[in-house]
Amino acid sequence: MNEATLNSTQQSDEAFNESIAKGKTIEPKDWMPEKYRKQLLRMMSQHAHSEVVGMLPEGNWITRAPSLARKVGLIAKVQDEAGHGLYIYSGAETLGMDRSEMIDQLLTGKAKYSSIFNYPTLTWADMGAIGWLVDGAAIVNQTALAKCSYGPYARAMIRICKEENFHNKQGYQIMAILMQGTKEQKEMAQDALNRFWWPSLMMFGPSDAHSPNSVDLMKWKVKLYSNDDLRQRFIDRTVPQAEAIGLRIPDDKLKWNETTRHYEFGEINWEEFNQVISGNGPCNRLRFQQRNDAHSKGQWVRDAASAYAAKQQQKNAA
Ligand code: ACO
Repeated sequence: MNEATLNSTQQSDEAFNESIAKGKTIEPKDWMPEKYRKQLLRMMSQHAHSEVVGMLPEGNWITRAPSLARKVGLIAKVQDEAGHGLYIYSGAETLGMDRSEMIDQLLTGKAKYSSIFNYPTLTWADMGAIGWLVDGAAIVNQTALAKCSYGPYARAMIRICKEENFHNKQGYQIMAILMQGTKEQKEMAQDALNRFWWPSLMMFGPSDAHSPNSVDLMKWKVKLYSNDDLRQRFIDRTVPQAEAIGLRIPDDKLKWNETTRHYEFGEINWEEFNQVISGNGPCNRLRFQQRNDAHSKGQWVRDAASAYAAKQQQKNAA
C-alpha cells in the first residue's frame, strides 16, 4: 500500500469510527473497514442458516401435531422461520456475497448455524419448549440486534422480533396448557424443559472471556451487549415464567440474588457446547443430511423460477 492510499484508508477509518461513535447507521454503500464487512457477513450468514436449519426440528412435528389448530400454528411458525432466513440472506447479500454462495457454505458444512438445532425433538412438548425458550432467547438477542450499527441487519430484526414474539407466546401457551393437563402431560413438559434449558443458554455463545469475535463486534456496535449479559437477561426473564406455570428449572444452583437483582446459575457444560459446534452434537449429521436432501428436492422449484424470470425478461425486452 503506498502512502497516499494508507492516508486515505486511515481517514476513512477515522470517519467510520466517528459515525459509529455518534450512533449513525452504516448502509451498504458507505465505506466500511474490510474486517467489519467480513464479521457482519459471518454473523449474518450464520444467523440466516440458523433460521433455515431451525425449520427442521419443528417440521418434524407438523404431521403429528395434536390438533388441527396446533398444526396450522406450527406450519405458520415454520414458514415464518423460512421468511426470516430470506430477509437475513438478503441483508447479507448487501455485503457482497451472493445467497447461493452462502447456501453452498451451509450445504458443504463450511458454515456454522446455531448449536440449538442439533438437539432432537422427541415429544410434542418440545414444540412448546422451542417456542418458549429458543425463540425467547432469540428475542433477547435480536431485540439488541435491531439497534445494531448495520442498517439492513437492524431493519430485518424489527419484523423478525415481532414474529418471534408470537412464536414465543405460542410456545409458552403450549407449555402452560400441558401443565394444566394429566400427570403424563406435566412430566412431558418438564422433560422438554430439562432437555432444552441448558442448550438454550448456550445459544448466546461462549462466555465473554472466550468469545474471540466480541471485542470487534462490540467496538463497532454490532453487538450492544455481551454474550454473558444477554444470557443473564434471558435467565432473569424466563425463570419467573417457568415458576408461574409450575415448571422447575433444572439447575440446583439457581438462586435469586437480592443485591445484584439477578439470578445466579450453575456452570454451563462448555465441553458439550464445543462438541456441538464442532459437528458432534446429537443431530449434526442428521441436520446436514436433511438440509442437503431438501435442497436437492427443491431443484425443480429453482429451475422453474429461473425459467419464469428469463421469460419475463424476454417479454420486457420485446
Ligand atoms: N451456535 C453455533 N456457533 C456458535 C454459537 C452457537 N450458539 N455461539 C457462538 N458460536 C461460534 C461463533 O460463530 C464463533 O465461531 P466462528 O468464529 O467460527 O464464526 C465461535 O463460536 C466463537 O463465538 P463468539 O466469538 O462469541 O461469536 P459471536 O461474537 O459471533 O457471537 C452469537 C455468537 C452470540 C451467536 C452472535 O453471532 C449472534 O448474536 N448472532 C446473531 C443471532 C443468531 O445467529 N441467532 C441464531 C439463533 S436464533 C434462531 O434462529 C431462532
